[in-house]
Amino acid sequence: MRTDVLKDEDPVKLAEFEARIERGEKIEPTDWMPAIYRKQLIRMIEQHAHSEIIGALPEGTWITRAPGFKRKLALMAKVQDEVGHAQLLYSAAETLGKSREQMISDLINGKSKYSNIFNYPAFTWADSCFISWLVDAGAIVNQVANSRGSYGPYCRALERICVEEAFHLKYGHHCVIHMATGTDIQRKMMQEAINRWWKPMLMFFGPPDKISAHTEILMKWKVKMLSNDDTRQQWLDMYVPKIWELDLTLPDEKLRKNQDTGKWDYTEPDWDEFKRVINGDGPCNKERLAVRRTAEERGRWVREALSRPKAEYTIPLA
Ligand code: COA
Repeated sequence: MRTDVLKDEDPVKLAEFEARIERGEKIEPTDWMPAIYRKQLIRMIEQHAHSEIIGALPEGTWITRAPGFKRKLALMAKVQDEVGHAQLLYSAAETLGKSREQMISDLINGKSKYSNIFNYPAFTWADSCFISWLVDAGAIVNQVANSRGSYGPYCRALERICVEEAFHLKYGHHCVIHMATGTDIQRKMMQEAINRWWKPMLMFFGPPDKISAHTEILMKWKVKMLSNDDTRQQWLDMYVPKIWELDLTLPDEKLRKNQDTGKWDYTEPDWDEFKRVINGDGPCNKERLAVRRTAEERGRWVREALSRPKAEYTIPLA
């Protein structure tokens, strides 16, 4: 497959490109790159940007209902950060030649994917706490690794995102500790949220390596610095003990660290459900896209008022 997608590339330029990546150099927007590297980056960064913007929705609905003024303020700041992350990522993707308008249009028309996990409902405040702590923790494991990758604009965006995400993680951890050490009802709410989110969380890191379509080439070119399974394992290693520390349980009897392999054993989530959800048929897909579509339509007059029709379009060097 690799030979096939690269058959039209200049072998000398390709060798120099791969040597640069091997040496740990960053590839910048105006540098030569194989078409498939560009295409893969656009796909991945665009999906990442959409995930940030859609990811703001389940938590965003909890701002007005967050318990207490401090929590409202913190959650509002967090949601605002997530939308800012989407802007950084859209800018990074634009450097590769796809316009923001096209990306937004592909999102609201259901052509582009975004993270599976944001297609599940946040029924209670405890769901919002789960997202702030554990989903953000998953995102950080992925992003810290990939910020050391090969494409300059994406890495720089990820570095900044990780700094902000570190605050989200502390905020989310604090929220979960508060619930886990609170009244019986609070503990029960937190436990039920963990039970609801466990399987989507395992899926968040992507399909197992053996069936992942893009990992091989993305790792070869240092876009992905960890495979899906390794990212999942790292998250399990870092957060399962922290969840257990709070006397909360995880809904998987098989879950344990296997001393022989050094890896976590767990029950595989339903990968057919994963496929359905990422292809538009999850519990909240329609609602999430409808909200984005409405925002796009209602905001059109602002964009038109701000636009300068005679200005020339320049590709930003993020
Ligand atoms: N949610 C939605 N779709 C997912 C997914 C997830 N959690 N994990 C994988 N997929 C999709 C892939 O996008 C791909 O679909 P496509 O070929 O139509 O684009 C398909 O499932 C096969 O997966 P895989 O080959 O493993 O994709 P990948 O190598 O791109 O790895 C990620 C998936 C999410 C690990 C990778 O894209 C990534 O690191 N993205 C940046 C981080 C990010 O987007 N985080 C989101 C939340 S903050």
